[in-house]
Amino acid sequence: MALLEVKNLGISFGGLRAVDQVNFSIKEGQLYGLIGPNGAGKTTLFNLLTGVYQPTDGSIMLQDKLLNGKKPAQINRAGIARTFQNIRLFKKMTVLDNVKVALHNQVHYSLFATLFKLPSYWKKEKEMDKMALDILKVFDLEGQASVLAANLPYGKQRKLEIARALATNPKLLLLDEPAAGMNPNETEELMQTIRLVRDRYKITILLIEHDMKLVTGICEEILVLNFGMELAKGTPSEVLNNPEVITAYLGE
Ligand SMILES: Nc1ncnc2c1ncn2[C@@H]1O[C@H](COP(=O)(O)OP(=O)(O)OP(=O)(O)O)[C@@H](O)[C@H]1O
Ligand SMILES: [Mg+2]
Repeated sequence: MALLEVKNLGISFGGLRAVDQVNFSIKEGQLYGLIGPNGAGKTTLFNLLTGVYQPTDGSIMLQDKLLNGKKPAQINRAGIARTFQNIRLFKKMTVLDNVKVALHNQVHYSLFATLFKLPSYWKKEKEMDKMALDILKVFDLEGQASVLAANLPYGKQRKLEIARALATNPKLLLLDEPAAGMNPNETEELMQTIRLVRDRYKITILLIEHDMKLVTGICEEILVLNFGMELAKGTPSEVLNNPEVITAYLGE
C-alpha cells in the first residue's frame, strides 16, 4: 500500500512552473530517491509536501489523509518530518536538547507537574533523556550530548538535524541533500546510517541527493526531475539506462 501518493502536483511562481504535473507514490518502508539538476524543483517539491507552499494543482495524500491546505505543524503531526538544504538547528542549545525539543511533541506533561517540578516531571525528563540519547547513538553523537550545537563540526551538525527530525517520530522522513558539503568518506558513512535508520525505525525515507551514484546505490526507486517535470522514474537500473536521463542529467 502507498504511504504517500502524489498526483498531478504543480506550483507556479509567477510564470515559472517550479513543479509541473508530478506523479509518484512511495510505498511504506521504501527508501526513495529524488534527483535532478540545480533548480529542477526538488526542494520546492519538499516545500509542497510539508505545507510550506500550497500547490497550485494536484493532490498529496498521506495514507488516507489529504494534505492539501494543511499547515506545516499539522503535516508534521500527520507524520512527515524533514531536514533542510541549509542546516537549521537551535545553535545555542546542546545537542541533547535539540533532540529533546523534537521529542516534546510526543511526550505529554501535566502543567501542574511541570510547574512544581513533581517527581512525575523528573521521571518524564529522565525518560526523554534516554530516548534522545538512543537516537543520538544511531548517529554516533551521544559523546557530544552536552556540546552546544553551534560547536559541532559541520558533518555532525548535518547528522544532528536528521536525529532531530527523527525524534518527531515520523512515518515519512524527507532529507534534502543530507550529505551536502561532506567529504566522500563521510557521505558514504551517512548513506549507510540512513539505510540503518530506515531499517531500525521502520520508516519511509525520501532523499534528495546530487550524486547519482550514491542515490542509485541505496535507493530502491528514484524520481528524476528536470525543469519541474518528471524526466524518469523507476528502479536505479531503469533510471540509469534511460536515454533521456543520460543525455539531460548526465550530459552525455
Ligand atoms: N519562493 C519562490 N519564489 C520564486 N521562485 C522560486 C521559489 N522557490 C523556488 N523557486 C524557483 O523554483 C525553481 C526550483 O527551485 P528548487 O529550489 O526547488 O530547485 P532544486 O531542485 O532544489 O535545486 P538545487 O539542487 O539547487 O537545490 C528555481 O528556478 C527556483 O528559483
Ligand atoms: Mg534544493
